[in-house]
Amino acid sequence: MKLAFLLSVLITAAIALPSNPNNGRASISKVDGTKFNIDGVTKYYAGTNSYWIPFLTNDGDVDTIMSHLQTSGHKILRIWGFNDVKSNPGSGTVYFQLFSSSGATINTGANGLQRLDAVVKAAEKYGIRLIINFVNNWTDFGGMAAYFSACGVNSNEQWYAATRCQTIYQNYIKAVVARYRTSTAIFAWELANEPRCKGCQTSVLTSWIRKTSDYIKSLDTDHMITVGDEGFGLAGDGSYPYQFSEGIDWAANLALPNISFGTFHLYPSGWGVSNSWGNSWITSHAKICKQLNKPCLFEEYGVTTEAQHCSVESEWQKTSLGAKEEGMAGDLFWQLGDTVKSSGQKTHNDGHTIYYGSSDWKCLVDEHVKRIG
Ligand SMILES: *[C@@H]1O[C@H](CO)[C@@H](O)[C@H](O)[C@H]1NC(C)=O
Ligand SMILES: *[C@@H]1O[C@H](CO)[C@@H](O)[C@H](O)[C@H]1NC(C)=O
Repeated sequence: MKLAFLLSVLITAAIALPSNPNNGRASISKVDGTKFNIDGVTKYYAGTNSYWIPFLTNDGDVDTIMSHLQTSGHKILRIWGFNDVKSNPGSGTVYFQLFSSSGATINTGANGLQRLDAVVKAAEKYGIRLIINFVNNWTDFGGMAAYFSACGVNSNEQWYAATRCQTIYQNYIKAVVARYRTSTAIFAWELANEPRCKGCQTSVLTSWIRKTSDYIKSLDTDHMITVGDEGFGLAGDGSYPYQFSEGIDWAANLALPNISFGTFHLYPSGWGVSNSWGNSWITSHAKICKQLNKPCLFEEYGVTTEAQHCSVESEWQKTSLGAKEEGMAGDLFWQLGDTVKSSGQKTHNDGHTIYYGSSDWKCLVDEHVKRIG
C-alpha cells in the first residue's frame, strides 16, 4: 500500500514533468526553431536596451528599474558587460577593465564586476533575461581602442586578428562568463557592440566571430551566443546598409555553428535612408533567418525626433511582429529611460530614450506587449 502509493506519486511526477519542464522554476533561455523559448514558452518577445544599468551604484535603483520592466511585460534587456578604461577613475566610478601598455587588469571590486553582479541578481529576481555584451566598436566606455596600446595595434581593423588583443579579450570574456555560467538571467552572450571592419575582406570578421563563438561555447554550452552587429551586408536594394563595405557578410556570420541567432539594428537618419525603408530592412533579415532556421532579433532601433518615436517605431514593431512566422523572434528598442530613485534624476536622454510611464512608453511598450499577447 505504502509502496504502491509512493510508486503512483513517482509515476505522476514522471508524467507531469514533460508538460511542465520547469516545475515553476526559471530555466535557461534557448532557441526553438526561428523563435526564442523563455521559461518553457516559445513566442515572440519584446524588450529594450540599457547600456547604463551596470554603471549605477545603488542596488535599490537597479531593483526598481527591473521591477518596472517586469510589470510592463518586457522580458529581454541588453546591457554593456564592458567598461574599459586606460586610467583608474577612482573608487567612486564604475569600470570593469583597466589597461596599461603592459596588459589589462579586471576590476572585481565594489566599483567593478560587482555592479554587474547586482544587475544579474536583480534580473533573476524579476524574471528579466540579459544580453551581455563584451566590447564596444565605438570609443564609449573604452571600446576596442582602449586595448590598442596594450596589444600593439592602432585600429579596430587590426584588433580582430591580433593575437595579443584577442588573448586579453578572451580573458575578459572568461572572467564574466565564469560569474554567471549557471544563471538563468543570462539570455545570451554577445561578442561586441556594432563590430565593423571597414574595407576589410568579410572573412576577417567571419573568422573572428567563429573563433570567439567557439571559445564562448567551450566555456558555456548552455547559453545562447550572438554577434551584436548592425546587420550590414546582405542582398537588398543596394543602399549603404546592404553593402559589404563595413566588412560584414550577415548570412555567412549567422550560418556559423555556434552563433545561436542573428541581430540587426536600425537607424535610418544615420544611414541616409528613409524611416519607411526600415520595414524592408526588417523583412530582408527575417528572410535569411527563415532560410537558416535561426531566430532574428531586431536588437536596436530608434529615431531622434521625439515626436516620431511612437509613430515611426510602432510601425517597425508591427512589421517585425507581423513577420513572426517568417523569422522574426523579438525586438528591443534603443533605449530604456527611467528615473533613478536615489537621486531623483532621469537617466541619459540621447534623443532616442523612451521613459517609463511616458506616452511613448504606453505606445511602444504597453500597446506592443498587448499586441504580442
Ligand atoms: C567602428 O568600426 C569602424 C570600422 O572599423 C570604424 O570606422 C570606426 O571608426 C569604429 N569606431 C571607432 C570609434 O573606432
Ligand atoms: C562550437 O564550439 C565548440 C567548443 O569550442 C567546438 O568544440 C565545436 O566544434 C563548435 N561547433 C562547430 C560545429 O564547429
